[in-house]
Amino acid sequence: MNTNQKNLIKATIPFLKTNGTDLTKHFYATMLSENPELNNLFNISNQASGRQQNVLANTVLAYAENIEKPTVLINILKGIGNKHVSLNIHPEQYKIVGHYLISSIKAILGDAATAEIIEAWTEAYNELAQIMISLEDGMYQSKVRKTGGWKGWRTFIISDIVEESAEIKSFYLKPKDKGTITDYHPGQYISVKTFVPELQHEQPRQYSLSSAFNPEYYRISVKKDQNNQHLPDGIVSNILHKKNIGDEIEVSAPSGVFHLDTHSENPMVLISGGVGITPLFSMLEANKNSVKKKQLYGCIAAVMRKSMHLKTI
Ligand SMILES: Cc1cc2nc3c(=O)[nH]c(=O)nc-3n(C[C@H](O)[C@H](O)[C@H](O)COP(=O)(O)OP(=O)(O)OC[C@H]3O[C@@H](n4cnc5c(N)ncnc54)[C@H](O)[C@@H]3O)c2cc1C
Ligand code: HEM
Repeated sequence: MNTNQKNLIKATIPFLKTNGTDLTKHFYATMLSENPELNNLFNISNQASGRQQNVLANTVLAYAENIEKPTVLINILKGIGNKHVSLNIHPEQYKIVGHYLISSIKAILGDAATAEIIEAWTEAYNELAQIMISLEDGMYQSKVRKTGGWKGWRTFIISDIVEESAEIKSFYLKPKDKGTITDYHPGQYISVKTFVPELQHEQPRQYSLSSAFNPEYYRISVKKDQNNQHLPDGIVSNILHKKNIGDEIEVSAPSGVFHLDTHSENPMVLISGGVGITPLFSMLEANKNSVKKKQLYGCIAAVMRKSMHLKTI
């Protein structure tokens, strides 16, 4: 991108601040209606609540604000890349996203969308897409290289279900192919994908691995999302709570940048809210099993009374 193009991107910052979510709403509405297969990937509740539109608008704005040195965003991009990889996003899909993002900029900017601005944003998007594609390629490769690792989705069988409290169930997952499973950093998550009959398509969600690595299984602990006053019950957690031992579920390899650094000797302080406690169990158990134990300075977990009887997690 040349200096003139970078200046044009910077000139759109005030527009992104005021109209960023109009832009991303237009983007998702057109992309998802014209490419219905992508509904298998995007969380429909995040679309309905506007969460995903806000997150993307903030990311586009942050990119524009740091267009001179986008590398300062590398940690944010790694977090997004981990989410993408856990959802098996492909490089070819960046063309689709680019197409709808640029047409949405045109649509929302209206008459202000000069050919130069559109060219600058096309260039800026392509550069960002290239950074993301290459980050994600590295992540896919390292997953496949690991013993028991895989790319994309793998069928697992629910081998056990433990009712931990009135609203939390732990699911023990073993690969259907009976192969080995890759280890993970305590705090990482997996994506699971299930068919939703009411929607007639699949929906993925992320769940933290709630125990230290055990080569026999992955364990996730899922809170049933229900009784949300005027809002609908959660889709996937309620489907999972109706699953039985022996049922199949699609699982992606462990991902995520929020994890314990087991090599460092720094002490740890663990703080969580609600079901956010699940990665802490993995961290505590991994630390207990580790030769190089960290000193635990404190652990604060805010949980509702009905979730208190956490038996094994
Ligand atoms: C990295 C990561 C790790 C996670 N780990 C865990 C874990 O260990 N255990 C766990 O239980 N969960 C975990 N989660 C949360 C989990 O991924 C799901 O978000 C959760 O299970 C709810 O999914 P759902 O499909 O049941 O609900 P969804 O259908 O996704 O709904 C979520 C919420 O959105 C609300 N909603 C729906 N429509 C609207 C609307 N129009 N406006 C406003 N709100 C609306 C619903 O009422 C509901 O409360 C994790 C999430 C992430 C990102
Ligand atoms: C440069 C281009 C892109 C940017 C800046 C971007 C940005 C983001 C951000 C900020 C998130 C939220 C991350 C989180 O919640 O942790 C996200 C999630 C996601 N992205 Fe991307 N993305 C890009 C390209 C793509 C592509 C090509 C696809 C494939 C269709 C894609 C599919 C998804 C999906 C399915 C999610 C999860 C959404 C959800 O949970 O509702 N993204 N992306």
